[in-house]
Amino acid sequence: MKIDILLGLQWGDEGKGKIVDALTPEYDIVARFQGGPNAGHTIEFNGVKHVLHLIPSGIFHEGKINIIGNGLVIDPVVFRHEVDSLGLDIGIVRERLLISLKAHLILPTHKLLDAAHETSLGESKIGSTLRGIGPAYTDKAARGGLRVGDLYRKDFRELYRARADEHLRTLRGYGFSDDLKDLEEEWFESVGYLMQFRTVNADYHLDMSLREGRRVLAEGAQGTMLDIDFGTYPYVTSSSTVAAGACTGLGIAPALAGEVFGIFKAYCTRVGSGPFPTELDDADGQMMRDRGHEYGSTTGRPRRCGWLDLPALKYAIMINGVTRLFMMKADVLAGFSEIKVCRSYTVGGMEVSELPYCLNDIESLNYINLPGWHCDIAGCRSWSELPPELKNYIGYIEKETGVPVTIVSVGPDRSATIYR
Ligand code: GDP
Ligand code: IMO
Ligand code: MG
Repeated sequence: MKIDILLGLQWGDEGKGKIVDALTPEYDIVARFQGGPNAGHTIEFNGVKHVLHLIPSGIFHEGKINIIGNGLVIDPVVFRHEVDSLGLDIGIVRERLLISLKAHLILPTHKLLDAAHETSLGESKIGSTLRGIGPAYTDKAARGGLRVGDLYRKDFRELYRARADEHLRTLRGYGFSDDLKDLEEEWFESVGYLMQFRTVNADYHLDMSLREGRRVLAEGAQGTMLDIDFGTYPYVTSSSTVAAGACTGLGIAPALAGEVFGIFKAYCTRVGSGPFPTELDDADGQMMRDRGHEYGSTTGRPRRCGWLDLPALKYAIMINGVTRLFMMKADVLAGFSEIKVCRSYTVGGMEVSELPYCLNDIESLNYINLPGWHCDIAGCRSWSELPPELKNYIGYIEKETGVPVTIVSVGPDRSATIYR
């Protein structure tokens, strides 16, 4: 069997959680491949909303295995709160969840370093979620990280102390003078909690599962424009959010990648700092924010909103080798008299359809206007019920990208999903 990969094509929050949950019945295993508690994946069913940060979005389905892959950075404190908030019996979560021994740990000092670093950047701050992501991946790349598998070593406390003391020396340089006692107490209690869960050599486990014919869905976090290599660097996250990241974040050979599902909103949003070519600072942007409830799932920050950016979408499709597109939040655009799509940029006086190295070099944007629709589509459950203007919009995107749009999402609930 091959492994299907589902990932975000924009700046995150495209609706990955909702779709992974909706698709889980077709799979045996859902495996998150990167990121950490910076992610906020929302799932709604039976009138209840759940926000997941570390746990894969298949967790609410009976009989399915969810794997936290080696590509993640795990904060045990967040993990504990998250399991408590699921509304599931802990025994059930233990049955459904496996944690890679090779996943890295976020220490309390990683969070403090994240905050200190952001403050030091002043106006140029990344707009990090302050969950310790950057410093934890920095330690991983610097070969000083602690991993889930290290928790079982007899000398784990000493390893921890050496790491935390080194972080403290850096923090003192930033003027930090508090002691860590309370944070460390909470962290070690949470580590004890995390150790009740099943750990696994996820690479071997997935290999065996695929050989036995099990279907695996790899779940990404963040989005392609936040990727450490291909995003709007340095305003990005610290992991590989792209399809290649599913290989390194789970231990999957590239030849085993199957379908690549690319998720995008019918418009664009971004939370945090950094370039966002189609951003709207006007009533249209506010209407998207209000109707789409565009406030961060993890931090509650208002999301910046703007029209669909085709050069950026095509770039993300290219980098990931997307085979199917899923359009999310189509319902939010109802009521706009015109739907605008950025089809190219002007850079150095020339019209270009490729992303320039520096997005700040974009002088102006070239839009195409498509007719809007005025009916509420939130209740639609089949393709035939959708208004012709929305079908026309989808047809335009398919023609431009050469990739079929096979799911249209018209509301946050699991059921508000139209399969073509
Ligand atoms: P993720 O990080 O990609 O999983 O996305 P988030 O959960 O952070 O943000 C997506 C938000 O949009 C959540 O509040 C979802 O409940 C909501 N949502 C998902 N799909 C739809 C949709 O089709 N229509 C509307 N109106 N909301 C949606
Ligand atoms: P999901 O998985 C949207 C953004 C932050 C910041 C930048 C770096 O829910 O789509 P970090 O904390 O990673 O150092 O922050 O990345 N960011 C996200 N934006 N959705 C996310 O995840 C994000 N995770 C990080 O706002 O701009
Ligand atoms: Mg999110």
